[in-house]
Amino acid sequence: MTERTIPNASTGAPRVFSGAQPSADSMHLGNYLGAVRNWVDMQSDHECIYFIPDLHAITVPQDPAQLAERTRKTAAQYIASGIDPTSTPFFVQSHVPEHSQLAWLLTCITGDGEARRMTQFKDKSAKQGAENTSAGLYAYPMLMAADILLYQTDQVPVGEDQRQHLELTRNLAQRFNQRFGETFVVPEAKIMKSTAKIYDLQNPTAKMSKSGLSDNGAIWLLDEPKKMAKKIKSAVTDDGSEIRFDRDSKPGVSNLLSIYSSLTGQSIEEIETEFEGKMYGHLKVALAEIVVDTLGPIRERTLEIMNDPAELDRLLAIGAEKAREIAGPTVASAYEHMGFLAPRA
Ligand code: TYM
Repeated sequence: MTERTIPNASTGAPRVFSGAQPSADSMHLGNYLGAVRNWVDMQSDHECIYFIPDLHAITVPQDPAQLAERTRKTAAQYIASGIDPTSTPFFVQSHVPEHSQLAWLLTCITGDGEARRMTQFKDKSAKQGAENTSAGLYAYPMLMAADILLYQTDQVPVGEDQRQHLELTRNLAQRFNQRFGETFVVPEAKIMKSTAKIYDLQNPTAKMSKSGLSDNGAIWLLDEPKKMAKKIKSAVTDDGSEIRFDRDSKPGVSNLLSIYSSLTGQSIEEIETEFEGKMYGHLKVALAEIVVDTLGPIRERTLEIMNDPAELDRLLAIGAEKAREIAGPTVASAYEHMGFLAPRA
């Protein structure tokens, strides 16, 4: 692994970088448990930088009338979830042009076959059809690699669905360093096993996602508490009545148990014991209360923060400025290593 070219904060703590797309009005429980909650926890002993990848969002069509508002809402949800704006910079991707600059360099050292093997690209393009698939969707993983490498990142906390993109990022960092000289830190994915993949409540073999088939499949952080409870109570469960974790034969109950465990800190075994002899309905009622207790205050805080968009924009501007202090020198170093003629000073 290459040494940092940009010194870390005085603490010398590992640097962490991650983000969630502003492609919906609200993040969902999968985003929260698989990613955001870990970002919050990592603030105590890591140097964290978080961002809102709006350039990623436009790889599929976005309504221009909604994009800016969704970007602010995502930022508000970061703070409401516990990202501390006084100590952790967070910013909007399109405010830092170095992301697009480095993405191009990385795209040019990525093989076509390598890019086509990305399962998210394969799945999404198969769903949309070639005619409706943008070249941006194809280039998405190289932009993601640029996001991470710009900040000389050590660890990237993400859900399971991003593992392959992280592998590509590592390969590109190593390839660049080998071909052109040490430039980038080679980052590691940080995937929490228990929450790596939260499943859709109506279709518990598919991941909970912003584009699920039914709105009832996802709990949105900004859902009204009553609605959250209703969605948990109407979650699809399995044949039989035993409350037991078994991903293959009981995907619905297993998903509820994972969510329960990660929100309470209790082990799956403890929860199974607690609900021994009880019905699925009992588990759902208890879980609905826990979900509402956790997400209800996040929702309220988000709505409060959204009342002061000017303050939010101010925090995002500070974040972008800090980000550019790191991203600027990284891009300059990458240009130099690749052999570009430097512009005259
Ligand atoms: P995105 O916006 O789809 O999701 C944000 C984070 O939430 C995780 N996640 C889940 N985790 C568990 N269960 C689920 N059902 C679930 N659904 C989503 C995702 O793994 C992710 O960590 N490409 C990224 C955004 C991105 C990025 C980056 C992330 C762009 N550049 C650089 C890290 C570093 C994405 O689309 O995440």
